[in-house]
Amino acid sequence: MPRELLIEAAERWGTPLYVTDLDAAAAAAHAWRSALPGALVAYAVKANPDPALLRRLVIEGFGFEVVGPVELALALRAGCPPERVVVNGVGQTDADLADGLATGALVNAETLGALDVLVHAGPGRIGLRLNPGLEADTHPYLATGAADAKFGLALDELPVAMDMVKRAGRAVASIGAHIGSEIDDPQSFGRLATLISSLAQETGATQVDLGGGFAGSPAAWAAAVRPHLPEAMRLIVEPGRSIVRDAGWLLTRVARVQARGHLIADAGMTEFLRPMLYGSRHAVTVLTPGTDLPPHEGDWTLSGPICESGDVLSRHVEEPSGEGALIAIGQAGAYGLAMASTYNGRLRAAQAVIEGETLRLSRRRETLEDLVARDA
Ligand code: LLP
Repeated sequence: MPRELLIEAAERWGTPLYVTDLDAAAAAAHAWRSALPGALVAYAVKANPDPALLRRLVIEGFGFEVVGPVELALALRAGCPPERVVVNGVGQTDADLADGLATGALVNAETLGALDVLVHAGPGRIGLRLNPGLEADTHPYLATGAADAKFGLALDELPVAMDMVKRAGRAVASIGAHIGSEIDDPQSFGRLATLISSLAQETGATQVDLGGGFAGSPAAWAAAVRPHLPEAMRLIVEPGRSIVRDAGWLLTRVARVQARGHLIADAGMTEFLRPMLYGSRHAVTVLTPGTDLPPHEGDWTLSGPICESGDVLSRHVEEPSGEGALIAIGQAGAYGLAMASTYNGRLRAAQAVIEGETLRLSRRRETLEDLVARDA
């Protein structure tokens, strides 16, 4: 952890503050590339759309997986060539789909209705995202591959889908699936690779897209997947969390102490929803201590300032410290700033990045003027 830089960042821009280490994220992306030579490593922008991070990954030659038209626009604004962009999204409108295709990105159909729009739109690369009917071991909110999930075309819809494609005189550029997130078992991806590569061969697609979602090392993923893919098959992977999880921190200060065991931080569910939504646990490091705490029997909880009892960042804080303590919440680079909200009138926190030994602001803190700018 770049402790001194984190302390300096909090002093310069205040808290709550998200900090992303671009070198660490780039190194994690390179680990995917080295494990899978020749594959398109398309970082899932939804994990952390920090603009400086996106630009850095473009410079390093990576692509992006985006959901919907706005993330697509962010990817292109960051300078990503459209050939390196994969567009997903189960609820895209006709215009979203046609416009996406026109950019030159690969656009995946997730429903027969979307496919119908894509095959009759202008030229472009169409992919099929399938629902593989594979269960993966993860939190129920993070599983997407089971047969009753809303994502992707059902396997038994594939013949109809291929018929639509052929009748329109089109071809399928890629066949893919995404089975969920925070999956530890690489064998889940081995099974997916077996299924998708045989379907790709049946349909004449020359690319397979095995989605994101692996929580382990790229080398372990590659070892489980490679044996099931023919040499000539081009591969797309869409890792999000594994590129940024350990490359980001949420900095927060203890604002108040509630003597019955709550350290009230200046960040909460509006800045970091994961502990509340998935019960996730994250490292809590005191960077600079605060005031001494009053006596309290039992554990301290790091709570947020929001009017919700479930607004907790961490239970059983190991190193509790009082008002003014500067705290870094770890493993917060993925799905932290990406899931922020303005509930309770919270202004979205600033974002800073580390590159080499330098710190810079990549997005300023939201202001009241920003918040009311759309009022009619
Ligand atoms: N590709 C697709 C089509 C996806 O839907 C996702 C994530 C990814 C790739 C990247 O998955 P990753 O490698 O990051 O696991 N908010 C949740 C995670 C939701 C993931 C949604 N889709 C969380 O905080 O854990």
